[in-house]
Amino acid sequence: MNAQPRRVEHQQTDKGSVPVYTTAVVEQPWDSYSPADHATWATLFERQQQLLVGRACREFLDNQQHFGMTPDAIPKFEDLNRVLAGSTGWRIIGVEGLLPELTFFDHLANRRFPVTWWIRKPEQIDYIAEPDLFHDLFGHVPLLLNPVFADYMQAYGCGGVKAHSLGPDALVHLTRLYWYTVEFGLIRQDDGLRIYGSGIVSSKGESIHCLESAAPNRIGFDMRRIMRTRYRIDTYQKTYFVIDSFQQLMDATDPDFTPIYRELASQESIPAGSVLQSDNVYNRGSGEGWAADGDV
Ligand code: PHE
Ligand code: CO
Repeated sequence: MNAQPRRVEHQQTDKGSVPVYTTAVVEQPWDSYSPADHATWATLFERQQQLLVGRACREFLDNQQHFGMTPDAIPKFEDLNRVLAGSTGWRIIGVEGLLPELTFFDHLANRRFPVTWWIRKPEQIDYIAEPDLFHDLFGHVPLLLNPVFADYMQAYGCGGVKAHSLGPDALVHLTRLYWYTVEFGLIRQDDGLRIYGSGIVSSKGESIHCLESAAPNRIGFDMRRIMRTRYRIDTYQKTYFVIDSFQQLMDATDPDFTPIYRELASQESIPAGSVLQSDNVYNRGSGEGWAADGDV
């Protein structure tokens, strides 16, 4: 019998019923992974690795190789941490699942990246509603080796601690930025649009959809625009935002957000699928298959 995550309770939020876990940092119980767990890792790892050639950005693919992750077994956090320690100084910590916002921000601000220790069940191979080890490790950890992105993640954590003290409106705006960059971002490279968002690279369907489908909008990065834009949590995104470089992300988010939050407070939010006159449009989505409601 393999170990089970300790779910504390469910909480009703604007995102529906969300499981809440203990905030404790846990040792990765590596010996408790079953053969089925390792097989799930192998299946997902091999599938996504193949799919991401020519789809994920250069930095993601190169850094993933650098870690030496293989399909043979679920990686040990301590092995990955040795690589990180010799590079950007980030460290992976094991957690039971989604953390309260302030706890999460505090980890990032101190270059600790929380990784859910358990992996999804075989029947969840193609879709799981909450982050598991595959999403957190395969999706997020490679770019922590990129110096600019590593700094961006830490700056985001610091910004989160501050936004938390400013109140819920500031957090809503900051969370959208994380969603449309860290989780669902695209980047323009010499050979075309590529993926860097973790929520995409860990999903078979969305890795193809975000680049190849005519349905979604693909729009140039615009920080304030993103902070006003609602998003999808249970379908593919209606809109993806495209950066030119990680440095662009760093530079755009460098200013103090306090006055920006104040400005945004009086502006309407933008539906997930809207295209504005001011947008730099790479692709205007056909909107095929879009649900009419359900933006959060
Ligand atoms: N500059 C932002 C602030 O003052 C912090 C931040 C950095 C937020 C990077 C997001 C990403 O709040
Ligand atoms: Co994530």
